[in-house]
Amino acid sequence: MKKDIDNRADIIVLVDTFYENVAINPHIGPIFTDVARVDWTHHLPKMYDFWESILFGKAIYKGNPMLSHFALNKQTPLQQEQFEIWKNLFFQNVDDLFTGPNAELIKQKAQSIADLMHFKINAPLSKIKIV
Ligand code: HEM
Repeated sequence: MKKDIDNRADIIVLVDTFYENVAINPHIGPIFTDVARVDWTHHLPKMYDFWESILFGKAIYKGNPMLSHFALNKQTPLQQEQFEIWKNLFFQNVDDLFTGPNAELIKQKAQSIADLMHFKINAPLSKIKIV
C-alpha cells in the first residue's frame, strides 16, 4: 500500500525515481544529459535538500534555482512544452509512489514553482535584468 512522503528517505526515493525517468524522456532528457551534462552525484543531493526545504520547511538548500535555469534557457529554450512535460512527469512519479497530504502538497509546490519559473524565464523584464 502506498504511504505519504514523511521524511528525507521518502524524498530520496521520489527524486531518484523522477530523475531516472527524466533522463530517459525523449523530450527533456537530452537537456539534462546532453546540454547541461548533469553530474547526477552532485545534482541529486542538491535536489534532496531542495525538496526537503520546500516540503518540511528546513532551510538546508542553499542555492538559486532561477540563476541555473536562466543560464540553461540561454543554451536551450525552456518553454511551455518543456515545463508541461517536467510537471506531468513529476506528478506521475508522486502518484506512482505516494499518497496523502504531503504528496498533494509537493505537487502543488512543484506546480507553482514551475509556473513561476516559466513566467520569469519568459517575461520580457527578466531579459532586461539578467545579463
Ligand atoms: C523544463 C523544465 C526543467 C528543466 C529542463 C530543468 C533542468 C535543470 C538542469 C539541467 C539543472 C542543472 C543541473 C546541474 O547542472 O547540476 C537544473 C537544476 C535545478 N533545477 Fe531544474 N529544470 C526544470 C524545471 C525545474 C523546476 C520546475 C524546478 C523546481 C520545482 C527545478 C528545480 C531545480 C533546482 C533546485 C536545481 C538546482 C539549482 C542549483 O542550486 O544549482 N527545475 N534543472
